[in-house]
Amino acid sequence: MENNLTDVPVFMNEDTIQARVLEMAKQISTDYEGKEVIFIIVLKGSIFFATDLIRRIPCNSILEFMQVSSYKGTTSTNKLVVKKDLDYNICGKDVIIVEDIVDTGKTLSYLHEYLLSKNPNSLKIAVLLDKACKREVPINADYVGFEIEDKFVVGYGFDLDQNLRHLPYLGYFK
Ligand code: IMP
Ligand code: MG
Repeated sequence: MENNLTDVPVFMNEDTIQARVLEMAKQISTDYEGKEVIFIIVLKGSIFFATDLIRRIPCNSILEFMQVSSYKGTTSTNKLVVKKDLDYNICGKDVIIVEDIVDTGKTLSYLHEYLLSKNPNSLKIAVLLDKACKREVPINADYVGFEIEDKFVVGYGFDLDQNLRHLPYLGYFK
């Protein structure tokens, strides 16, 4: 990977992202007023989104981190591998999964099912981006920053082979 990364074209600028994240934070603050929220931050892609979102929500909250990957097993069924599990018991808690994007929906549908088995009081999903046109598994996020077309985005946490996450804006690859 070249060291000069300044020529990644802008798909969405910082101001646009921040303005929408603030709106999402206000919505969540209203919906969870007076409650304690457990945010499950899905590593690694959602870190910038999660920190910008959660620090604008004045509810008492607990931050948990998970890392998962879905892979195609030998039987052609997709499986979820939990690389980093919860440290905290979410039974009876109000939980929001914070994820970067819902694309085919496989990752979030497995994660949602996995977390439901822990018996939270409520379980919702917040994503920055939704590629609704790519969905293969029926799952919808409760809070969506932007619905986008089928474009590969990088920056603001999104990676291309682990690179480019640091860009403060969303860029795209043609
Ligand atoms: P899904 O399981 O197909 O919904 O895929 C979700 C995962 O694919 C996300 O958590 C991202 O890690 C990755 N992904 C999907 N689209 C993009 C993209 O445009 N840029 C970077 N990563 C992406
Ligand atoms: Mg991801």
